[in-house]
Amino acid sequence: MTYDEIKEKIKIIAENYKDEPTGGFITGDGPIPAKILFVGEAPGKTEVEEGKPFVGMAGKTFEGYLNSIDFSREDVRITNTCFFRPIKLKETKNGKHSISNRPPKTKEIELFREVLNEEIALVNPMIIVTLGNVPLKRLTSFDSIGECHGNLVFNEELNKYIFPMYHPSALTYNRNEAFLKTYEEDWQKLKEALNGLIHNA
Ligand code: URA
Repeated sequence: MTYDEIKEKIKIIAENYKDEPTGGFITGDGPIPAKILFVGEAPGKTEVEEGKPFVGMAGKTFEGYLNSIDFSREDVRITNTCFFRPIKLKETKNGKHSISNRPPKTKEIELFREVLNEEIALVNPMIIVTLGNVPLKRLTSFDSIGECHGNLVFNEELNKYIFPMYHPSALTYNRNEAFLKTYEEDWQKLKEALNGLIHNA
């Protein structure tokens, strides 16, 4: 599949999905091929507005840490497990509607299984970094990020190294020194894993 075909397929899947409310869609961003591929969960409001993954609040955190290990956004490929924005519509007390993000459902992740595999094949990264539990469950057999973050694992089916990391928005929920330290250590471990893979290539 060419990249234009992947983009077209994402558009068709997103536009034809009517089971649950969604708020627009995006595709991946960054060079093809690329040495590192980051895979997030699903886009939020800002991502859909700007047409790129990780450009909202979590994206700013992500980019800061990426820069801290001497990579810039332009060097890496960034994509998602679910390409549309999963939303929840709620009616407030005064009859107005509010929209919030929700995690993608398994069936929504499965809709994009083939296109994500095609994107991985085209990008052909040395390492895939999963951000949070959603891409972790999709690309490894782990159930929870707590049990494997910061360790390099190998996916036989994809024939790729996977490095599981917490999602950058976890920093917002875990506002304590111990978590910050763990998170920062994981970025250093990623840097070491990359250096190791690049030297052995
Ligand atoms: N969070 C994600 O998981 N993906 C994005 O693209 C943005 C925020």
